[in-house]
Amino acid sequence: MSDPKVIVALDYPTADAALAMADQLNPELCRVKVGKELFTVAGPEVVRLLMQKGFEVFLDLKFHDIPNTVAAAVKVAAQMGVWMVNVHASGGSRMMRAAREAVDSVPNNKTHLIAVTVLTSMSPEDLAETGIAKRPLEQVLYLADMAKRAGMDGVVCSAQEAAAIRAQLGDDFLLVTPGIRMPGDAAGDQRRVVTPHDALANGSSYLVMGRSITGATDPVGVLQKILVMLSQRSL
Ligand code: C5P
Repeated sequence: MSDPKVIVALDYPTADAALAMADQLNPELCRVKVGKELFTVAGPEVVRLLMQKGFEVFLDLKFHDIPNTVAAAVKVAAQMGVWMVNVHASGGSRMMRAAREAVDSVPNNKTHLIAVTVLTSMSPEDLAETGIAKRPLEQVLYLADMAKRAGMDGVVCSAQEAAAIRAQLGDDFLLVTPGIRMPGDAAGDQRRVVTPHDALANGSSYLVMGRSITGATDPVGVLQKILVMLSQRSL
């Protein structure tokens, strides 16, 4: 199986809308992400339907709770056979270790377990408001290091931080980067944005792309343009 670098965020208010977008996409060329909006309205059924269509699914529910609850949640996600699931690193090492053990306990587990560092929508001021005086990069590196030591397969971070994490934590660690924008696109609520080309150059493993693709008049055309950009970079 190919290893598509682009993960399309299916952020839709109905299963029908998400499945209609998925029907335009080729599972050989991208993966898809089910986040809080779609999962809240459509539940595990939409995840199963996407998997039946041949997509590998990133279940982006960013669990942040007590160790027992998070472990139980990631375990059922792994049992469903999702490609990737995530927790918040700020939930602590004990929570991440419990999640690791729970995922590993699933027979033939193939689910990547990753941790969110600092949301890409957070500016330095937003972070300071939550009581964290560190700059985003410093906090991201701190949480990424903690996540790796707790057995996570990788982290969610901004591609702006990917090079520093690669340098510190090495190649054997997945860097999943949302906040990707085509040159000239509106940032929307995102703050730490990077183009697809620069994200890959910075060492990102997978690019999460929502509105740049799903909000375009020609989503497939945009995805193709991104894939050409990325293939030129890896030549
Ligand atoms: O539309 P856009 O490209 O901004 O979508 C980004 C997607 O990535 C959203 O589904 C959002 O929930 C998700 N995400 C994020 N920042 C993180 C983790 C996930 O924006 N740190």
